[in-house]
Amino acid sequence: MEAIEAIMTRRSNRRFTNEMPGKQEIGKIIECGRQAPCGSNSQSVHFVVISDQKVLKDLAEIARDEFSKMEVNEDTYVSLRNSILASKRGDYVFHYGAPLLIVTANKKGYGNAMADSACALENMMIGANALDLASCYINQLHWLSDNERIVSYMEAIGLEKDEYITGALALGKAETLLQKEKQITGNPVTWVG
Ligand SMILES: Cc1cc2nc3c(=O)[nH]c(=O)nc-3n(C[C@H](O)[C@H](O)[C@H](O)COP(=O)(O)O)c2cc1C
Repeated sequence: MEAIEAIMTRRSNRRFTNEMPGKQEIGKIIECGRQAPCGSNSQSVHFVVISDQKVLKDLAEIARDEFSKMEVNEDTYVSLRNSILASKRGDYVFHYGAPLLIVTANKKGYGNAMADSACALENMMIGANALDLASCYINQLHWLSDNERIVSYMEAIGLEKDEYITGALALGKAETLLQKEKQITGNPVTWVG
């Protein structure tokens, strides 16, 4: 699939099969992330690639447990509110059971940490779509990036002490792959000249 088509037809997929994508495909997607632009060519995005299903289950359980302790009010950001309410119901798996989760981390105190990570995540999503794989940007671990249990678990599997979680990508094969252009009604464009 050529680049423009891969960008235009990329959609967030939230239903995955258990099947793990091939090692070569996974490697290519990670390389797409590593090739992303980054401030001052800092190359400090750290990709923690989790294919261990026990680790994915543990992370889902810890996140559910920690979200369920939180309260919502009228100021709670809508997606966070959904995560908290679903966790309180007890049936919440933030990564949708995808067989692979790529967690991005970056240096604490680095001003471009989030921007660099977002560029890497987008490159990986486009790469995944080009390979007919399903992906979805996942923000819950970032929201829990100050949470002691999540941090200590993540540090045990590779997060460095001077890093924090900036985002994540659920990756796998889709039950039904969503690949279509959508009508964009927001994102205004102002032309000058
Ligand atoms: C910064 C960011 C955070 C997101 N966080 C989540 C998330 O935690 N869970 C989720 O299911 N989708 C998440 N998404 C996906 C958006 O919901 C999705 O991109 C949006 O609804 C547009 O749909 P599309 O990606 O299919 O075009 C996130 C996307 C971005 C860019």
